[in-house]
Amino acid sequence: MSRVLVVGGTGLCGRQVTLEAVRRGHEVSVASRRVPAEGDPAYVAGVRYAMVDLVSAHGLEAALDLNDVLIDTTNGMGRSSSTVFTVGALNLLHAAARWGIGHAVLLSIINVDKSSYSYYRAKAAQEQIYRESALETRIVRTTQFHDLVTSFFERGARFGMIPALSGVRFQTIATADVARILVDAATGVGEPEATETFGGPQVLTTRQMAEQWKSRTGRRGLIVPAPVPGSLGALWKSGGNLAPDRAAGTISYADWLTSRA
Ligand SMILES: NC(=O)c1ccc[n+]([C@@H]2O[C@H](COP(=O)([O-])OP(=O)(O)OC[C@H]3O[C@@H](n4cnc5c(N)ncnc54)[C@H](OP(=O)(O)O)[C@@H]3O)[C@@H](O)[C@H]2O)c1
Repeated sequence: MSRVLVVGGTGLCGRQVTLEAVRRGHEVSVASRRVPAEGDPAYVAGVRYAMVDLVSAHGLEAALDLNDVLIDTTNGMGRSSSTVFTVGALNLLHAAARWGIGHAVLLSIINVDKSSYSYYRAKAAQEQIYRESALETRIVRTTQFHDLVTSFFERGARFGMIPALSGVRFQTIATADVARILVDAATGVGEPEATETFGGPQVLTTRQMAEQWKSRTGRRGLIVPAPVPGSLGALWKSGGNLAPDRAAGTISYADWLTSRA
């Protein structure tokens, strides 16, 4: 059993990591700015919650006490993303080294260093901070989550149009699969100091995903081609979001949609 700190453990993926670590019998702490009350969807029984702001470092030292390994699943929105990924990571890793935490696992994105999209630049800077830290670090890059592409469909459907990104295929992965991979990495699976990429079980065109989404949810709307501009679009159209030889995910998009319904 390890003592695992999930930083951002109340978020979309972080909560799955928290559940997976508890399920495997680890002693789990979670750090985030908002601490969930019992009954909150983010709450997991048996977990020690600590109120921490990585950017100001408020609450950080107390949260790090009595942990062996940390898993970073934090995120930032809009302009704050760069601050969370850089200032936040520096604060976290310096404090972790002082408290004697030996290992860190960072959740990142496939080919994050291959696009000048500002969010990707901030994530790539976060990766570099981890590589240069005193902690033994494993960086786990994954393909896009099922939830991300679904959010495109949900947003478009409000206007009666479901966007099928032109020329873009995805190999999306379930956050439950990502959680399994992250907890494996935290408990020593894989090479230390490595950056590894993992993908979902299938490569699908966005149109195929949109069709599955419509049939599984019963939602209406016309599937329409949508351009993806910018350097992120270029990366996706070139297949830089795919890793067919690293298909570690077990939950297909269709099965994930069915389980959500
Ligand atoms: N979406 C994708 O397709 C995809 C694919 C691969 C990798 N990723 C990566 O996965 C990571 C997690 O994404 P997600 O969608 O699960 O994130 P999310 O749902 O937005 O959750 C973010 C977590 O970080 C915490 N947090 C944010 N700012 C913080 C701060 N200053 N101090 C302490 N905690 C803070 C949040 O809690 P509070 O707000 O309460 O602080 C929350 O627990 C991201 O780094 C993302 O780049 C995403």
